[in-house]
Amino acid sequence: MSIQKPKGTQDILPGVVEKWQYIEEKARDVCRRFNYKEIRTPIFETTELFQRGVGETTDIVEKEMYTFPDKADRSMTLRPEGTAGVVRAYVENKLYGEPDVSKLYYIGPMFRYEQPQAGRYRQFHQFGIEAIGATDPALDAEVIAMGYLFYKEIGLKGVTVEINSVGNPSCRAVYREELQKFFAPVKDKLCKDCQSRYDRNPMRILDCKKDQEYGVGAPSILDFLDEECTTHFAKVQRHLTDMGIEYVINPRMVRGLDYYTHTAFEYKAAGIGAIDTISGGGRYNGLVGTIGGSAIDRPGVGFGLGLERVLLVLEAQGVDVQGVLPLDAYVIGMGEAAENEATRLLFELRAAGLSAEKDYLGRKMKAQMKSADRFAARFTVIIGEDELSRGTAMVKTMATGEQEEVPLANVAAAIAAKRGN
Ligand code: HAM
Repeated sequence: MSIQKPKGTQDILPGVVEKWQYIEEKARDVCRRFNYKEIRTPIFETTELFQRGVGETTDIVEKEMYTFPDKADRSMTLRPEGTAGVVRAYVENKLYGEPDVSKLYYIGPMFRYEQPQAGRYRQFHQFGIEAIGATDPALDAEVIAMGYLFYKEIGLKGVTVEINSVGNPSCRAVYREELQKFFAPVKDKLCKDCQSRYDRNPMRILDCKKDQEYGVGAPSILDFLDEECTTHFAKVQRHLTDMGIEYVINPRMVRGLDYYTHTAFEYKAAGIGAIDTISGGGRYNGLVGTIGGSAIDRPGVGFGLGLERVLLVLEAQGVDVQGVLPLDAYVIGMGEAAENEATRLLFELRAAGLSAEKDYLGRKMKAQMKSADRFAARFTVIIGEDELSRGTAMVKTMATGEQEEVPLANVAAAIAAKRGN
């Protein structure tokens, strides 16, 4: 049997990859305007980074990591998310020594051993941003606004923003106890996962699809926030309102990672089967300290947006994003001497900044014209024996059928001029 790709992975082929490139360009452009700079960190890190950073009680660390020993028997893990690696790099490269907030972004593959379904893969791609070094609620709002604008600019409709505050460790400790009290009478009826969450991370019970009925009437975290958390959350909301960004407060939102403090948020949209959360993020004061030591603790906030989910929702909404890019020129030489000239001219066109192609399969003129059509060539350049003897080529504008005989030395300039730039 032929070898197949691993379960939960995808081949992104030409014809579709152009959509990815379009979305990635939009992401980079938003980052440029918000003054976020790209960071590239390793695809694999030591396992300990994620155990400490993402949290031992999360689904990710408990059951979804691609962990393996390297040849020297060190435990390594394919990154299941981007924040822990960025924070490690921030610490290791002493970015905390810089005078400004570190505003970083990344686009790349992440890996989680999950049960694949529409919108859920084992290798998926995130566009993520992290702003590390300030507690200012304006940064929380900026991060939320940036994701909102990104979705808007790529043409995604019906995206709603949900926000919550998950407090700081001290108000969360009180809330945890309240939740345990609330769930105690039904503890035995909860699903197996939630029975173990009860002791270790009861907030996650609120997030469980199977146990929704038992969560009805559960206390709200917002009633347990201390003054600092309440003020922070109010300021985030004020900034969002000032920016004209509509949001919904969802006090039951629990993100699947342990590092969040204060603001947590998710973007939701319909269009991907059972999944309606298209991305999310939040503030993580304390994570830098967890990874780098309390002496250099710095607050941070960020998001991670799944790119597969963007494409799925765009498709469901019938939004046509960039498809195959047209070719500027398809060059056809008839007869050996003209073919040699075509090969030379092709290089000249490419060096002049045009995208150009020829036939490599010895096909007849008609088949070559079809090939030019498949590549959506805007011009075909035909060199027959007559043209060759005159030192010219016939440049045909495919859209109009108009033809012009042009000296070989002027073909690149003629196409650039006709193309309109
Ligand atoms: P997360 O909620 O675990 O957060 O993942 C963020 C997004 O990545 C999800 O909303 C989804 O779009 C995408 N995603 C996650 N798992 C999969 C999967 N198996 N298949 C397809 N897409 C997936 C984080 O990863 C945090 N690091 C976000 C963050 C950054 N928080 C602060 N800074």
